[in-house]
Amino acid sequence: MSQDFTEVRIVDNFYQTSSFIPMPVILVSTFSESGMINLGPYSLCFPHIIAGDQQHAMMLIARGSSNTAANIIRTKVCALNFIPDTKKYMKNCVMLGYPGETTEEKMKKSIFTLLPAAPYSKPRNCQAYATHPDIVKEAVQVFLCSWDESFPLQYNKEHMEYHFLLRIDKIIMQRKWRDCLFKGQGFPAMPVDYGYRDNVRFWFARHSPPYAIPIPREKGNTMATVKYACSRFDPAVKWQEDACARLLKVPAIFLNGMIEVVVDAAKEKGISVITPRFVDSLRDKRFDEE
Ligand SMILES: Cc1cc2nc3c(=O)[nH]c(=O)nc-3n(C[C@H](O)[C@H](O)[C@H](O)COP(=O)(O)O)c2cc1C
Repeated sequence: MSQDFTEVRIVDNFYQTSSFIPMPVILVSTFSESGMINLGPYSLCFPHIIAGDQQHAMMLIARGSSNTAANIIRTKVCALNFIPDTKKYMKNCVMLGYPGETTEEKMKKSIFTLLPAAPYSKPRNCQAYATHPDIVKEAVQVFLCSWDESFPLQYNKEHMEYHFLLRIDKIIMQRKWRDCLFKGQGFPAMPVDYGYRDNVRFWFARHSPPYAIPIPREKGNTMATVKYACSRFDPAVKWQEDACARLLKVPAIFLNGMIEVVVDAAKEKGISVITPRFVDSLRDKRFDEE
């Protein structure tokens, strides 16, 4: 039997002390007590509820004594700003991550530009604040969130580890990345945080271009894949189920290209719902070599 694996003792903060876990870098913006915007860097922030109407949520793990935790508990709102991979930005994130500083002290050192969130969204429950806190202009994407208090904040009162279930009210993204998302091509350069590993430094990995691994050819497209691809391509254009079914035989690698052709043609004609007849009419004109 291979003896290559050896045990690693599980200690506190195991994600950075007993293992290698790639994490995102998110500046959480919140309203401080004086109304000033506080930016705190956080990496323990991941998708938590991924399906269901209005249910989508992130989980943020933050120290109970942080400005961010106090501000979310008081105001119930925050914005998750995903910071792109630039060493200058990571340096400033580490600066903003020094525990114990007040918002007024730390924000003097921030190099990030703040923009109001109000034009984009309203919190789902405006009891405390009528808007989400300002967002970071340099971010690739921002999740505007409301805290769901029905989820337990602490699993154990002895630990100052707070779990915030953050319902996603709105996702906003820089336009060029939104276009890449819909076309299925192109990725923003996002950093990978490996955490505070040796009690001296934070470690970040540079982004390299992602590579694709197609699903095996014999698996073909499933209805679910086609419907998903059609529905996410352009929110202004809806697809009838039978219209999606017309694309089942399109090889996976050409699926997005084909959807783009159909959506462009629909927009040209001012059509907002794609019917099977419309797909057939295009097929007749443009794809009669099939
Ligand atoms: C890149 C980075 C990621 C961090 N991730 C977390 C995290 O997920 N949870 C946490 O409690 N602290 C995390 N920290 C430490 C907090 O940023 C630190 O406690 C900071 O003081 C929080 O700011 P705030 O008090 O303004 O909220 C991180 C620090 C850095 C630099």
